[in-house]
Amino acid sequence: MEAFTYRENQLCAEDVPLRTLAERYGTPAYVYSHAAILENYARIARGLAGTPHLVCYSVKANSNLRILSLLREAGAGFDIVSGGELARVGRVKAAMDRVVFSGVGKTVEEIDAALAAGLLMFNVESDGELHVIEQRAAALGRTAPIALRINPDVEAETHPYISTGRFIHKFGVPKDSATALYRHAVASPHLRVRGIACHIGSQILQVEPFLKALEEILEIASHLRAEGIALEWLDLGGGYGIRYQAEAPLDWDGLTSRIHHQLAHSPYRLIVEPGRAIVGDAGLLLTRVLYLKHTPEKNFIIVDGGMNDLLRPALYGSEHQVWPVLKRPGPARPADVVGPLCETGDFLARDRQLAPLQPGDLLAVMTAGAYGFALASNYNSRPRPPEILVSGSEAQLIRARERLDDLMTGETP
Ligand code: LLP
Repeated sequence: MEAFTYRENQLCAEDVPLRTLAERYGTPAYVYSHAAILENYARIARGLAGTPHLVCYSVKANSNLRILSLLREAGAGFDIVSGGELARVGRVKAAMDRVVFSGVGKTVEEIDAALAAGLLMFNVESDGELHVIEQRAAALGRTAPIALRINPDVEAETHPYISTGRFIHKFGVPKDSATALYRHAVASPHLRVRGIACHIGSQILQVEPFLKALEEILEIASHLRAEGIALEWLDLGGGYGIRYQAEAPLDWDGLTSRIHHQLAHSPYRLIVEPGRAIVGDAGLLLTRVLYLKHTPEKNFIIVDGGMNDLLRPALYGSEHQVWPVLKRPGPARPADVVGPLCETGDFLARDRQLAPLQPGDLLAVMTAGAYGFALASNYNSRPRPPEILVSGSEAQLIRARERLDDLMTGETP
C-alpha cells in the first residue's frame, strides 16, 4: 500500500485529501499514515521471523505517544536514550522488559529511574558509566541488567553526523577493552550481564557494514562464552536506510537472511533498534506557499514551514522530495523551497524542478516522519506544528499545534 497517493490530481494521505487536513488543522503540519507505520513494522518483523528476536523501536525518531502506543500494540519493544523517553514509554504502558536504554551520557537521575522501572538492559557506553550504574544499583539494592555497546570500528558509509561506529566517534566501548569490562561486570553482585550491543550509524543503505558489525560482536561474544561468560542478547542497533530520492533502499530481506544464517545454531536472541525505517516514509510535512520571489539568480518559493519544523535539510543537507498537493499542468521550473526564518540555511529543498505554483498552494515535503517533528524547535519563537495521524478515511489530531502561550511557559517577564 502506498501511504500517499494522488487521486484526481489531489494528494491524499490514505483516503484523506491533504487539502482537507490543511483546512481543518492549518499549516505547517505533520501528517502520518497509520497503515504505513504498521506495514513498515510488520516488514521488519517478517524479515526476522526465522531468528529469535525483539524489535525495539528507536523512540528518538518520532516519540509521539500515539505512535508509541500503536507500535506497542503491534508488539514492539523500545530503544530509549533519555529519562524523557523513559517517561514516554512508561506513559504508553510499555512492557519494561522490552526496553533497552542507550546513550553516552546517562545521568544518575536517569540511571535511577531506569533501575526503578526495571528495563531489559542498559547499553553501557563507557567504563565510567558501568561503574556509576553498579554504584547506583548497589545503593538502591538492585541488580542492573547490562550490555556493553561496542564500538566495532566499522565504516557505515553515511553522513558524517550520523556515523557512529568508528574509533573517532564518541560512542561505545572500543572493542579491545570490552573483555576486561565484562569480567568486571560478571564478578559484580550488582550487575547482571545480559548482552552485547552496537550501533554503527543511521541511514545506511548497504548490507555489508551491518554484517561486519555483527561479526565483530559475535566474535567478542564467543570469546566471552569460552571464558564462561554467557550472553543472551545481541543488539545490532538501528540505522536501516530508506529512500528519500532515487537511491536503492537497503536490501532488508537480503540483510536478514544473512543475519539468520550467521545466527543459526547460536544461543543468542537478536535485538534491532530501527527508527527511521518504521516511521520515515510514513510521514510528511504539509506546508503552504506564502509568496513567490524571483531574483536574477533564483526562484524562491516561500512557504510557512521552515527549519524549525524540519531541520534535516539544513543540518544534514538531506533531500526530501517536494510534491504539490494539487497537481497542475505546466512546465517545471527550477526553484528553492524556503521557510520564513531569518537564516539562509532555512530551506526545505534547493534547486528543484517544480510545476507552477501560486501563493496559497499546498506542498508536501515527503519522507519526514522520522527526525522531523522530533528535531523541531521553537526557533524564531515559532510554535511547533501539529501532528495528525490518518487511518483510512479518519484523521486524528495526535498533537495539537503549540499556542503562543506555550512558547513562554516557565519564563518571567
Ligand atoms: N539505536 C541507536 C543507539 C541510535 O543512536 C539510533 C539513532 C537508532 C538506534 C535509530 O537509528 P535509525 O534506525 O533511525 O537510523 N537525526 C538524524 C538521525 C540520527 C540518528 C541517531 N541515532 C537524521 O535526521 O538523519
